[in-house]
Amino acid sequence: MDKNRVYVFDTTLRDGEQVPGCQLTTVEKIEIAKKLEALGVDIIEAGFPISSPGDFQSVVEISKAISEPVICALTRANTKDIDAAADALRFAKRGRIHTGIGSSDMHIKYKFNSTREEILQRAVDAVKYARRFTDDVEFYAEDAGRADNAYLAQMIEAVIAAGATTVNIPDTNGYCLPDQYGAKIKYLMDHVSNIDKAIISVHCHNDLGLATANTIAGIQNGARQVECTINGIGERAGNTSLEEVAMILKTHHALGYHTNINSKGIYEISNMVSSMMRMPVQPNKAIVGRNAFAHSSGIHQDGVLKHRENYEILNPEDVGINSNAIILTARSGRHALKHHLERLGYKIDKINLDEVYERFLLMADNKKEISDADLLQLMGDGDTKT
Ligand code: KIV
Ligand code: ZN
Repeated sequence: MDKNRVYVFDTTLRDGEQVPGCQLTTVEKIEIAKKLEALGVDIIEAGFPISSPGDFQSVVEISKAISEPVICALTRANTKDIDAAADALRFAKRGRIHTGIGSSDMHIKYKFNSTREEILQRAVDAVKYARRFTDDVEFYAEDAGRADNAYLAQMIEAVIAAGATTVNIPDTNGYCLPDQYGAKIKYLMDHVSNIDKAIISVHCHNDLGLATANTIAGIQNGARQVECTINGIGERAGNTSLEEVAMILKTHHALGYHTNINSKGIYEISNMVSSMMRMPVQPNKAIVGRNAFAHSSGIHQDGVLKHRENYEILNPEDVGINSNAIILTARSGRHALKHHLERLGYKIDKINLDEVYERFLLMADNKKEISDADLLQLMGDGDTKT
């Protein structure tokens, strides 16, 4: 086994699809699942079958349509949910049941009105029951981010002994700081005696904007599965974004971790998910936002035009974006203006660039962005073209 291989578990179709307004039809879900397969995702969480007949049917149809990735279905820790998941997964080439229960004292007391001992027993019973249907069972310890580490370790050891092959340590409420979350994973690595029999999975929410940082801290401390969504879509402030984790591990390849993600497919699936879910991507979103590879200030534009890597640590082509963009605004310099005029066919040595630049600034001060049409208007009859 390759000890630095990080498995990518995508939950766009389950945790992502829970977002109000983002519901998808089964046909749309199959289309996204096929793109996730082409992207190289290892596990696709296709839905929560007990939650509705539509979600059940989507898991059935995705199971039929997908060959390579494992298809996963979510359950709570009860037999009815697990029966529904097993039934929905009956056509999966490789199916996984993802069952679990709350692990923080907050959830134990106020969600389940129960005790640590009772919850631990329910966790073990659920895993044992799920193992009747498949040997691929993942256990989630909900709200592990706020759980007591000693109790969490006891629970994880018990569910692995009961047959869980992946153990998910969710920071359900996006509470942890990266060093806290990393230390939690390390604690489990050090204190769960049978941890070598399972893969630790990290599932982080973004309530404090730390989901990706926490995920990376988890990997650095021993986790080898990451749970994420395209564009970071998900409950409240969202989940860890797949594209961020994939590109962090690629950019920092010296760390030695690697995934199976074909990064050139990232931009296409980001657009597909955004349009099908009617959820626009914020312009400054890392990796896939409209401005992720756009330069607009004079200093940056000059630097990028001299050498791309002055201001770009990623190559846009690596994520499927054709090229970077030099945006002309009132903050742009002569170098950027010259670049665009040459692109439009103007011969710069026949132009008084200083004089054109003065007129450009007057125009740009009254517009957010200068287009090619604006430049043509600025240049008048175009008799200086090559
Ligand atoms: O955030 C969470 O805890 C979850 C679990 C159901 C895995 O989504
Ligand atoms: Zn979640």
